[in-house]
Amino acid sequence: MEREVEELADMDWDNLVYGITPTDYMYVMKCAKGGQFTSGELQPYGEIGLSPSAGVLNYGQGLFEGLKAYRKKDCDVVLFRPEENGLRMQRGAERMCMPSPSVEQFVDAVQETVWANRRWVPPFGKGSLYIRPLLFGSGSILGLAPAPEYTFLVFVSPVGNYFKEGLAPISLLVDTDFHRATRGGTGGVKTIGNYAAVLKAQARAKSEKYTEVLYLDSVHKKYLEEISAANIFLVKGKTISTPPIKGTILPGITRLSIIDVARNEGYKVEERPIPVEELFEADEVFCTGCAVVVSPVGSITYEGKK
Ligand code: COI
Repeated sequence: MEREVEELADMDWDNLVYGITPTDYMYVMKCAKGGQFTSGELQPYGEIGLSPSAGVLNYGQGLFEGLKAYRKKDCDVVLFRPEENGLRMQRGAERMCMPSPSVEQFVDAVQETVWANRRWVPPFGKGSLYIRPLLFGSGSILGLAPAPEYTFLVFVSPVGNYFKEGLAPISLLVDTDFHRATRGGTGGVKTIGNYAAVLKAQARAKSEKYTEVLYLDSVHKKYLEEISAANIFLVKGKTISTPPIKGTILPGITRLSIIDVARNEGYKVEERPIPVEELFEADEVFCTGCAVVVSPVGSITYEGKK
């Protein structure tokens, strides 16, 4: 995006947290079932009208994406791999029986929304503009079936670090009572229900003073899956390991980038099933995600062993 030097929004940029700040505009595009998205528009950021019988409210037919815009030192605003999010939304839409914007429509909408809200992109080094594209069944439906109308919406909010620890190491609890996903389910797509499903486990971990939950696979209850909102990596010498993408783990874009960067830096990267016990032999553990970026893990507790 073009260079610009202009006034920023009136914000305390030094104390950004990961939360909602209402910005100026959101992008909205609608499409009927069986149809295609054609054109959308920017609207003032605000509430949207939704029927009580909307598919998303009743049957959870919805997806979201997450990506960020950053301000560079010279004030340019850059996006991080938005095409990858557009592709992931398309794959998710197919799984959730929804039409999806094309990758080009997705990227254009993201660019338009960021540009219209550019005064909310934090100054260089102070945080980022979190971009939240949504795709959901907005049409009314009573019987269980795909909704008759869909809405694609993009809103943004300036954010700081995701974890209250900032970039200090976080603590994880391996909670074997809960699973995030199961084979044949929707763990591999960014559907909204995956996130509601982990709130209970997350609340329990937080009440015991852990930062987050690390989930195991639901079949063997043995192999690492992911954290509520991030992928996990182990480092042992010059080898970096992460669970493979097999339908139960979200194919993170930061995950993909870390794999590429690690290989370029001469690390061997293995995508393989990782038994939970291996955590205790790792030299380092970290997690990745759009919101969490790359966060170091300081402790992991599994069956009382830390
Ligand atoms: C993201 O990294 O964009 C996420 O999905 C995190 C969100 C659940 C807070």
